[in-house]
Amino acid sequence: MKIVTIIGARPQFIKAATISRLINGNNDINEVIVHTGQHYDSNMSDIFFKELIIPKPYYNLGIGGGSHGQQTGLMLIEIEKILFKEKPDWVLVYGDTNSTLAGALAASKIHIPVIHVEAGLRSFNMRMPEEQNRILTDHISSVLFAPTKVAVENLAKEGITSNVVNVGDVMYDAALFYGELAGKNSNALNDYGLYVGNYILTTVHRAENTDDTDRLKRIFSQLEEIARVEKVILPLHPRTKKALEGIDYDFGNSTISFINPVGYLDMVALEKNAKMIITDSGGVQKEAYFHKVPCLTLRDETEWVETVEAGCNHIIVDLSTIVKQYEKLTKQTLNFDKNLYGKGNCAQLIINYLRDNLS
Ligand code: UD1
Ligand code: UDP
Repeated sequence: MKIVTIIGARPQFIKAATISRLINGNNDINEVIVHTGQHYDSNMSDIFFKELIIPKPYYNLGIGGGSHGQQTGLMLIEIEKILFKEKPDWVLVYGDTNSTLAGALAASKIHIPVIHVEAGLRSFNMRMPEEQNRILTDHISSVLFAPTKVAVENLAKEGITSNVVNVGDVMYDAALFYGELAGKNSNALNDYGLYVGNYILTTVHRAENTDDTDRLKRIFSQLEEIARVEKVILPLHPRTKKALEGIDYDFGNSTISFINPVGYLDMVALEKNAKMIITDSGGVQKEAYFHKVPCLTLRDETEWVETVEAGCNHIIVDLSTIVKQYEKLTKQTLNFDKNLYGKGNCAQLIINYLRDNLS
């Protein structure tokens, strides 16, 4: 069986790592990896291929930056050319980025069936580009690997019931596998002068936060307030860097400790040892749960509702209350014992399904 895998953004490298590593040792499946180039800085792309031992992409389309239409359109044109040339049996896509939609759409239009990993997630906020990408992708996919029961139910409500399989979350596999490696190989705490349980790890990159100046300012003024009493370390996403530069943010006098984006092993080490995580990232919210760290999520809603229901992740709709919610959460005792996202064998279940049903 020949599969073309389309990836392009940071979280997709991490998701693909778990599956591509297994495919690599499987003679029944021939995988051709296509990197759209959506993320292109070395600390947003290359570092993951090196650290996570992902096979080097066979193609890199170099399509990064630009508007949604420009980015997705260029990807469609280039991916289609590759699909005509490679003639795969399946196209495999992950998550909800523009690379996901472009890969799925290019394949589906020329009748190559699509496999969607992380299917069925919904925020029910159609203004999010990710929500549009994931709904469209689910509706043109032939095999849908859902991470949770809720995701399966979401798909059923939209009439998608065939070839839907709840395999758990591929990022849980990554957290377990690379979590162990991070313990041995990461020096992040030393490198950044941090002590276990003595700092807050923060990430901010969602368009709804970076592209809305009021929200951006509110988030950063609240984080600065926390950073006056507690170390706040923030690996800065290029989108957020541009947005902060756009409002002349005073990096020199900020109380926040900004660092460049880090590799996954360092990120896991930073997550595991943090006192709390404050984020708007989908992946980081869950990793907080996997590593048993309390989390505040800077969004109006989340696709990962299980972490909220477990009481371990708090959604902050009113961004002027971040400090208050932070103080409240530090006083709570949380229970991370529930297995919300499968058994950590998601990648193996996916490979088994492909081998047994799609060959
Ligand atoms: C994308 C995804 C988002 C995902 C995020 C993961 C879409 C619509 N959004 O958002 O769902 O959560 O990736 O991080 O697909 N840039 C650089 N260097 C890089 C990468 C990006 O400078 O290596 C710049 C781009 O030029 C652009 C901005 O950052 O100006 C945003 O990049 P883009 O890939 O369009 O969207 P993300 O915000 O990263
Ligand atoms: N991540 C990383 N280095 C960083 C920030 C994040 O390796 O500096 C990892 C993080 O651990 C998670 C993934 O990137 O696995 C999440 O990506 P991101 O927040 O960019 O996107 P999202 O999950 O919101 O789509």
